[in-house]
Amino acid sequence: MNILVKRLFAYNNLRNFTYIIYTDKGEAWVIDPYDAGQVKDEIKTLGVNLVGILNTHDHFDHTRGNQELQDYFKCAVLAFDISQSVHLDQNQSLEILKTPGHTSEHIVFLWKRNGIYEMIFAGDTLFNAGVGNCKNGGNVDELFETTQMLQHRLPKEISLQPGHDYLKRNLEFGLMVEPSNKKISERLYHLNNIETELLPPTTMEEELLINPFFRLDSEEIRALAGVSESRELFKKLRMMRDNW
Ligand SMILES: [Fe+2]
Repeated sequence: MNILVKRLFAYNNLRNFTYIIYTDKGEAWVIDPYDAGQVKDEIKTLGVNLVGILNTHDHFDHTRGNQELQDYFKCAVLAFDISQSVHLDQNQSLEILKTPGHTSEHIVFLWKRNGIYEMIFAGDTLFNAGVGNCKNGGNVDELFETTQMLQHRLPKEISLQPGHDYLKRNLEFGLMVEPSNKKISERLYHLNNIETELLPPTTMEEELLINPFFRLDSEEIRALAGVSESRELFKKLRMMRDNW
């Protein structure tokens, strides 16, 4: 069975992404619906039926479309415990991983096909070239531990599908804390006049090169932040990004 992913951009100030995962057998799941009308239109265009709603966490901008979609499609918001996964077909599933930090109950979904992790739907845990903030119920120590866990656990080829498009701002911040990072400056150069929400997401391999929260070994970042111990550096970077 063929399974495809459609990314929707909400064109709101928070720059939310919503994802529809659908099969050629006509079943679809939605992750973090922001705009129910937009999801309904897309479901209609795709000619599929919504069978489940998944949320990475309970912040309003990730659950905003839940009720309307539940009522319209008569489908459920799926609740998980850590041992569960969403069975898509015999070779494909969405695995659930706990990722506390942005909120204490945050989870991410790993799309696994034939034993290979293809995508991570990361909500507000990881962004392209950044990580989530801890301003609304979060804990920066937990976010550090989660980020370290993901850095070691995720394969390099996995595609990072975040809950928001903050790519350009994150790259600008990354360059500020690591001015000699050519990968970041090259990417920023090519982003001029491009709608970043239309760009394909990054892979973990790229993230290790451009995301300062994965680059805690960089001497340049350590010197600029004035901190060298990993956890303290992560926390300092998070604070700097919050106030930037
Ligand atoms: Fe959030």
